[in-house]
Amino acid sequence: MSAQGPSPTSTEIHAGIEQALAAMRTRFPDRFAAATTEQLLRDENAKILGKKGELTSILSQMGKVPADARKAIGESVNALRREVEAAFEEALKALFQAKRKAELEARPFDLTLPGRVPAQLGHRHPLSIVREEVISIFRGMGFAVHDGPEVELEENNFTKLGFPPDHPAVDMQDSFWTTSNHLLRTHTSNIQARAMSSRTPPMAFIAPGAVYRRDDDVTHSPMFHQLEAFLVDENVSMAHLKGVLAEFAERLYGPGTPVRLRPSYFPFVEPGAEVDIGCVFCKQPDGTRVGCNLCKHTGWIEILGCGMIHPVVFEACGIDPEKFTGFALGMGIERIAMLRYGVPDIRLFFENDPRFLSQF
Ligand code: DAH
Repeated sequence: MSAQGPSPTSTEIHAGIEQALAAMRTRFPDRFAAATTEQLLRDENAKILGKKGELTSILSQMGKVPADARKAIGESVNALRREVEAAFEEALKALFQAKRKAELEARPFDLTLPGRVPAQLGHRHPLSIVREEVISIFRGMGFAVHDGPEVELEENNFTKLGFPPDHPAVDMQDSFWTTSNHLLRTHTSNIQARAMSSRTPPMAFIAPGAVYRRDDDVTHSPMFHQLEAFLVDENVSMAHLKGVLAEFAERLYGPGTPVRLRPSYFPFVEPGAEVDIGCVFCKQPDGTRVGCNLCKHTGWIEILGCGMIHPVVFEACGIDPEKFTGFALGMGIERIAMLRYGVPDIRLFFENDPRFLSQF
């Protein structure tokens, strides 16, 4: 387009634009190819597509083109823009690849060198090992896992489970209260209240989790872990409970592990019992147990509490005690792990000393 002579007609402008686009189309591949660095390539790209770029200046003449030709020009401009953009990306990629290749060739790797082996491999915490094992035993018997909160309503932790208001556990001295009716759950039995209040039998659940009590000595920690198991249906009897306990003991401590129930009291079960297994520490090859310090020379070790769910619990949770019966049991994960590994002090589980943890 010449600046001299009579001003060009709109047809001439149109032809001029098409010509300029065609010229640009034939030239830009060589211009990109000649750019040997990323910066040069970006500069070249900006000269075409940038705010003051060639394509933009062509577009600025669109106003002078007859309306019926604008659409066609717009389409060619857009098509060219897409071509340039794609070619730019291609060229950029090629530059990066060439650069990477040069780097690798300048500083070759020896792929045959052995890798660096970490000095120490992480592994699971002994409490996790025991918890997973107990969970898998109960899952194998058909129990499903039920979760629940650690900050719990007094109602679910105590009231629905038949605790009288003057029970020592309800006291400020024994439990961590967060408000006048919320506390850190003192046991996983809260899940019994939750599940039974929101579902209808039959149900069979286990509930593993952290619990909290104001206690701190060699065998007590203010935070520890329990696992609750309970089953509710028609015609559930103590025989079912004993069968589950026997299966559990055999799977966890080996075939032939004897189990015995001693009568005991928990507000939410009747009858209630504590469960002992034959001492695993002084057991002789012939199965007899000679007595040791760990079983206090009785040949038996207590592992959990259990019983038949008390009718008052069913009533508090809206389940008909005339129609349904059930059993419940609860164990301390730390206690099971202490017995399993012969750990004398519960606090070792929470100090995270690698000399202790690396032994499992
Ligand atoms: N919740 C009891 C505790 O923390 C353990 C327990 C005893 C759970 C008897 C039960 C049970 O389900 O039947 O000491």
